[in-house]
Amino acid sequence: MTTAPGAEAVPAPEKRLHIKTYGCQMNVYDSERMADVLRPLGYGLVDSPEGADLVVLNTCHIREKAAEKVYSEIGRLKELRDEDPASAGMKIAVAGCVAQAEGAEIMTRAPAVDLVVGPQSYQSLPELIARSSRSPVPQSRGERLATDFAADAKFDALGGGRAARKVSGPTAFLTVQEGCDKFCTFCVVPYTRGAEFSRPADAVLAEAQTLADQGVREVTLLGQNVNAYDGMDGGLAALIRAIAAIPGLDRIRYTTSHPRDMDEALIAAHGEVEALMPYLHLPVQAGSDRILKAMNRAHTVDSYLKLIERIRAARPDIAMSGDFIVGFPGETEADFEATLELVRQVEHAAAFSFKYSRRPGTPAASMQNQVDEDVKSERLARLQALLETQRQAFNARMVGRTVPVLFERKGRHAGQIVGRSPYLQGVFTSGPESLLGQIAPVTIEATNPNSLSGRLAETAAMLEPA
Ligand code: 5AD
Ligand code: SF4
Repeated sequence: MTTAPGAEAVPAPEKRLHIKTYGCQMNVYDSERMADVLRPLGYGLVDSPEGADLVVLNTCHIREKAAEKVYSEIGRLKELRDEDPASAGMKIAVAGCVAQAEGAEIMTRAPAVDLVVGPQSYQSLPELIARSSRSPVPQSRGERLATDFAADAKFDALGGGRAARKVSGPTAFLTVQEGCDKFCTFCVVPYTRGAEFSRPADAVLAEAQTLADQGVREVTLLGQNVNAYDGMDGGLAALIRAIAAIPGLDRIRYTTSHPRDMDEALIAAHGEVEALMPYLHLPVQAGSDRILKAMNRAHTVDSYLKLIERIRAARPDIAMSGDFIVGFPGETEADFEATLELVRQVEHAAAFSFKYSRRPGTPAASMQNQVDEDVKSERLARLQALLETQRQAFNARMVGRTVPVLFERKGRHAGQIVGRSPYLQGVFTSGPESLLGQIAPVTIEATNPNSLSGRLAETAAMLEPA
């Protein structure tokens, strides 16, 4: 772990807090904010649940497997609390999207849980903890459960002065938008994260400045539909330009975007804002118009491909990433082949792909023609093989190039440092620790299964022109 410049030694915490984070980057961000809100109460983070005073499970509801993990983890924690005297005082909190979707059910199914808090209610954590004291008097459920939707209240409380944000390392997430109004028929997010909400630009810029003051060089703007951001005139493109003007913030990324909200201004920003990294996660989900329609995606294959063309015209070296679902209800072999064809046309630097998972309460869960698990598995394997070939080909094309790398940490070997390329690839090289937190040019020499390696280029002059 690296310490940000200016960070001071902190005294040992009075209370031990362990947070386990599942799912997306927004949960990572939220976990950090929960730690911030609890720090003034004397809670300090520890790496394992043993002996912790409070364990928070920050959960994910997106697919069945993710949601089920929570219950087995609660079981393990209960056992630890019952059997390990050092852990006897542990409180168990369930946060995140499972808390939002199944709050009351968790309380019934897992009585070991002391409190349940949904993603819009983290500002009430201190109060909930106080109320959930493990007294002999049983408390009502309402006192230990907070799942209201009030994104503005959340950000006012968490982003304000009361919970000062502390970061370590040169990269940080920054939530600018939360929630989703798109209602793709497979997805729980509109139900767990609520309606689209954009944080006001002044709050976002103040937080970005705080990050820059602590030595952060790269911010990733987060939102379930981040390119629907409307917290200032000019939307996300204007926000990106304002953040790029903050000295020290040399790299900006944003995720996740919806093709529908990729407007001209944002596409232009890709060509014009130097700090905006040439990497775009723009999920398409499927490559058949019939399936896209049934998914309620509001775009076609053709409109998606035309969009990619426009983005590549603005920023020719942009690396594309996406999400794919195979085995959506009614997906035929021909529909799936069309997805493979779209992947071949777009060429991805990276991608995430999933078997369709039936989520209670979503329209697709009750559609006829659910696809057999075996068929889904077989399609997923074929899709992933193709995506993997594209990822490797993209990495192989890096060999011989000299690219700026933001160094984030020491490697496992002596004298090794590790950072990221503009295209989000991990890059290993030999170099001095003084480069941690700095951007320096590296000539890529080889590809590894999940990263690149190279040598420090002698001068910045060797960098390729952007
Ligand atoms: N089944 C499988 N994958 C899903 N995703 C969202 N909902 C489901 C589901 N029910 C995927 C989508 C989305 C990503 C975050 O998770 O591809 O973009
Ligand atoms: Fe889910 Fe679709 Fe909203 Fe993305 S755009 S969060 S997939 S409903």
